[in-house]
Amino acid sequence: MKILAIDQGTTSTRGMVTDSADTSVHMVHSVRHAQHFPQPGWVEHDARELLDNVRACISAAGPVDAIGLANQGESCLAWHAGTGEPLSPVIVWQDNRTAERVDGIARDGGAERIAELSGLPADAYFSASKLHWIIQHCSAARDALRTGHLRLGTTDAYFLDRLTGNFATDVTTASRTSLMNIRTGRWDEDLCGLFGVPADCLPEIRPTIGPFGTIRGVPVTASAVDQQAALYGHGCRRPGDAKITFGTGAFVLAVTGERIISASERGLVPTVGWASSAGRTYAVDGGVYDAGAAVEWVMRIGLLSKVEELDRFEALPAVDRGLVFVPALSGLACPHWDRTAGALWIGMSGATSRVDMLQALLEGIALRTAEVLEAMDAEIALAQGIPIDGGLSRSRYLVQFLADVTGRTMIVSDDGERTAWGIAQMAAEGAGTSLGEYPSACTSYRPDPGVDRHGRIDRFRRAIAMSSGWRR
Ligand code: G3P
Repeated sequence: MKILAIDQGTTSTRGMVTDSADTSVHMVHSVRHAQHFPQPGWVEHDARELLDNVRACISAAGPVDAIGLANQGESCLAWHAGTGEPLSPVIVWQDNRTAERVDGIARDGGAERIAELSGLPADAYFSASKLHWIIQHCSAARDALRTGHLRLGTTDAYFLDRLTGNFATDVTTASRTSLMNIRTGRWDEDLCGLFGVPADCLPEIRPTIGPFGTIRGVPVTASAVDQQAALYGHGCRRPGDAKITFGTGAFVLAVTGERIISASERGLVPTVGWASSAGRTYAVDGGVYDAGAAVEWVMRIGLLSKVEELDRFEALPAVDRGLVFVPALSGLACPHWDRTAGALWIGMSGATSRVDMLQALLEGIALRTAEVLEAMDAEIALAQGIPIDGGLSRSRYLVQFLADVTGRTMIVSDDGERTAWGIAQMAAEGAGTSLGEYPSACTSYRPDPGVDRHGRIDRFRRAIAMSSGWRR
């Protein structure tokens, strides 16, 4: 059986065909899309461009038996129920335009209610406040609301509506909106009221693995957030199994099984890992907003010319020499949830070089990720070996540093298409079959027991304390 996995992510759309007969994997299409930054803190995509890119993957795949779709999570938009035309840009998960309103809701006592019902912290990252912003600021969306033609949803719901005619989302994606009750898996009236989002404009919530309709006669048998797809693609199935994906941000997810981690003082986020007709499996999520985004930034400002420079450093770790970077370019997510934090380098001297600053930057990304792993490990005992993927997993320096500061073995797939593989596996199961093992070798990075990891973490914590609240 041939499965097309479509990974519609923050920066690109990729189509991969896998054949269950010989577990061969072919990337059939990969295309980047434009990022729009209309104002500081705003990030938008063009919904039509994304839809065209998804269609191009379908065309490039040729005949297949089933399709799985991975989406970029919290990014969302409005469109017209009759014409299907977008009525807003896609407001991307990184977009911070609603931060003030979310702070207001949180201050008025909403934070506890949101945490109790959705499991999530009050933060502009999640879709709810973005959808409300669209209703407030896009006149076409308001007109459609008046005439009963407004559709609101995450990008998956838009693609599925346009391509299959089914206005649906899956439960992992719905769990990223702040509008779904984490226990029932249904839209929650209180949450919709709190954020000002009309529940009857939202899609039907379906299990991740199961029918979503057909595209050109081919059944769509799975749909999920890309991070959850990667979790599945790394083979994480049991409580404590975790993975890290280094994309624009760094996203750590761990399976918790039937347990819903409470939106704890540790700042972790319960989420749905996957669901099928057999039931729901929960996970815990912890994101670092700026990983690849920090590297892109140093390239943009001319501090770095080639990413290869980040693979090896001759000098001792920068943190051991007193130089620390906190990658809070868009604030600090898990476990701090502080949008007012400021990015910083601290500990420079007249001898500090450009390369030292890059080394500290990479270490700062790893140390932020280590903070998330530590918070998770206190809630659910994590497996010793952690599979990792994504762009920065190609930096041997970053991966070894991460192994050293976490005391855990990091396992890097030589070919990192784990998101596509995960959604392909889900789609295969939705079509009544299964795929074998991922056809790629892995390299393990073991921690060096001689490293003073607590010293590094303490120094980083002092820098985090300075960064916190800086922009308040
Ligand atoms: O929460 C956002 C995340 O799912 C986006 O992942 O890989 O599209 O940057 P990615």
